Amino acid sequence: MTSTTQTFKHFRQFNGQQPPTWLGSHSSLTASDAARHFPGDSLQNKLVRQLGSQRLLPIKEMLECGELFERVRHKLRSPIVADLCSGHGLLGILFAIFERRVERVLLIDRRRPASYLKLIDCAVRVAPWIETKVTFREQRIDRAGLSLPEGTSIVSAHACGSLTDRCLDLAIAARGAVAVMPCCYPKRACPAPRSLQKALGLATAFDIARTYRLEAAGYTTHWATIPAVITPMHRILVARPGNTGASPSKNDDHGIPEGRQLSKTM
Ligand SMILES: C[S@@+](CC[C@H](N)C(=O)[O-])C[C@H]1O[C@@H](n2cnc3c(N)ncnc32)[C@H](O)[C@@H]1O
Repeated sequence: MTSTTQTFKHFRQFNGQQPPTWLGSHSSLTASDAARHFPGDSLQNKLVRQLGSQRLLPIKEMLECGELFERVRHKLRSPIVADLCSGHGLLGILFAIFERRVERVLLIDRRRPASYLKLIDCAVRVAPWIETKVTFREQRIDRAGLSLPEGTSIVSAHACGSLTDRCLDLAIAARGAVAVMPCCYPKRACPAPRSLQKALGLATAFDIARTYRLEAAGYTTHWATIPAVITPMHRILVARPGNTGASPSKNDDHGIPEGRQLSKTM
């Protein structure tokens, strides 16, 4: 049986079948891949076919962004969304395309990659309403001077190491909702006690410390995961301002994969 945490929510065509290994592939998606695996008239499939026609993005990154977006979009809807360490910016662009309540998307990265301009061009072709919504800012997020308007929602996929913590700092400062999918976990920066690091593994202990930090800052937190077949770095921490004490919905992916633990060494 497919466990909840392995379910595809943005690209549902991959449910109920043995996932092909290329779902986690670093190769660029080609036009023929896109035509074969992303048929039909849904907006997400049309976008993927556009991206495939340009061989713009690795398959893995495209699926990561789609599945992360689908798990957090309802918790992060706000007039301004910032995608930090955005790289090409696909994650933020999905908010511009699919969330009507999002009026402005800021993509922030220390460097604007060449793929961004092609990507935004593809996205505008399938969703012309985003043309004036998306701005790319070349800026470091670990330097003083970056502040975001109050209530900005922050999203970030694989901001390396402590940059994920910087995303949390910026969200707390703006009192905005936040969703991060961390990647590498630097041992020296882990605030969790060594006992937890040893017992639970560095990654889990680090994310528990992050979760306590958000709760202490007045946030309600939630863990989720995207399918591990896409990436082993698949845990998402989501937090919204306000300690509601609400119990998790039965549809939530709780981030504790059934029969599959996140690696202790991540
Ligand atoms: C692993 S990539 C993730 C890119 C994208 N979010 C994704 O999921 O494909 C990390 C990104 O962080 C950016 N980055 C690294 N240090 C940064 C900093 N100090 N401030 C802003 N961006 C930074 C890099 O340029 C790179 O695009």
